[in-house]
Amino acid sequence: MNTEITSNIHYVGVNDRHKDIFEGLWPLPYGVSYNSYIINDEKIALVDTVEADFFPQYLDNIRQVIGDRQIDYIIVNHMEPDHSGSLALIKQYYPGARIVGNKKTFDMMRGYYHVGEDASEILEVKNGDTLSLGKHELQFVLIPMVHWPETMVTLDQTTHTLFAGDAFGCFGALNGAFVDSHMNCDIYWDEMRRYYSNIVGKYGVPVQQALKKLSGVQIDYICSTHGPVWHEYIERVMAEYNRLSLYNAEQPGLVICYGSMYGNTERAAEVIARAASEAGVKNIVMHDVSRTNHSYILSDIFKYNAMVLGAPTYNNGLYPQMESLLSEIGGRNIKGRKLGIFGSCTWAGQAVKKIKEWNETTAKFELVGEPAEIKQSLSEETRKACEALGKAMAESIL
Ligand code: FEO
Repeated sequence: MNTEITSNIHYVGVNDRHKDIFEGLWPLPYGVSYNSYIINDEKIALVDTVEADFFPQYLDNIRQVIGDRQIDYIIVNHMEPDHSGSLALIKQYYPGARIVGNKKTFDMMRGYYHVGEDASEILEVKNGDTLSLGKHELQFVLIPMVHWPETMVTLDQTTHTLFAGDAFGCFGALNGAFVDSHMNCDIYWDEMRRYYSNIVGKYGVPVQQALKKLSGVQIDYICSTHGPVWHEYIERVMAEYNRLSLYNAEQPGLVICYGSMYGNTERAAEVIARAASEAGVKNIVMHDVSRTNHSYILSDIFKYNAMVLGAPTYNNGLYPQMESLLSEIGGRNIKGRKLGIFGSCTWAGQAVKKIKEWNETTAKFELVGEPAEIKQSLSEETRKACEALGKAMAESIL
């Protein structure tokens, strides 16, 4: 089986089609891959590992490439356990391998696995340091907070291959091929936005700093830790990460997110959607915050430039699932969106007030139209308020 990506660089990663939710939070309808790579030179380097559950298959993948030879270096670009989980085990099989990382890498490694405690088993590198494997000349570039503080990338200057850690990664297991030019990539674009918005979304500024560090560097292959190896679509992938990290919407459109206990708030959401549609908005997506996993809502909020948020008053506060969504949006530092607000109550309204307060203190989105507040059910007057809000959103978007 041919596992070579380019001159003596091999794919040895695994697919996880078992896990339902990544990080215990984010659904995986297409699975996820944990990518790892071998640079098979005079010295052999293993780049990142995989989740521990997949160790037998992983070890077999490595042996298919190097047979009985020993690994000289294990390069750890990122310490999150989906990539570092096999470290302690791999060290048992390759005890002579030196682990390459930066100071923060080893602080985490000792805490997680008690590996790297002996100075002779590690090679600590700083930003810009190099390592020769024979023909392949590696350089390490620190890109903190993409996605953890210790994160770095490894650039093979010989083949212009970037081992990128989580950067440029996406959800979705690999179905046979591992290089983009050998597969249909259709599912990966949405899964890239969903991955970015769910996992890396908070770190727009560090991603921008990383992109600047890499600008001007010739890159022919991007070997991320999740998803396809990028070769044919490098330009598109870079542009996608640039846009996402700037929080620029992909296109104009309206994401209507609502909670509803007995259907009355949902009916208000329908009226807003209908009014926005009649006023010419084509891209409208609606999410019941209790039924759609917030993973998909966040992805749509990164995709479109406007949202309407509405929910019932609950326990003299905000409906819990909407409160949770507000926290998730706020936690990602999303910028530059237009916001419409609506809400409901039976005797004392709090929902609209709470969403407004959240916007004033946290999100700071551009408030569009007048918030619509319904009591018990839609009345002639509140129906008109919802229609006016939908129309105002449309005018603002278009
Ligand atoms: Fe795929 Fe941040 O770990």
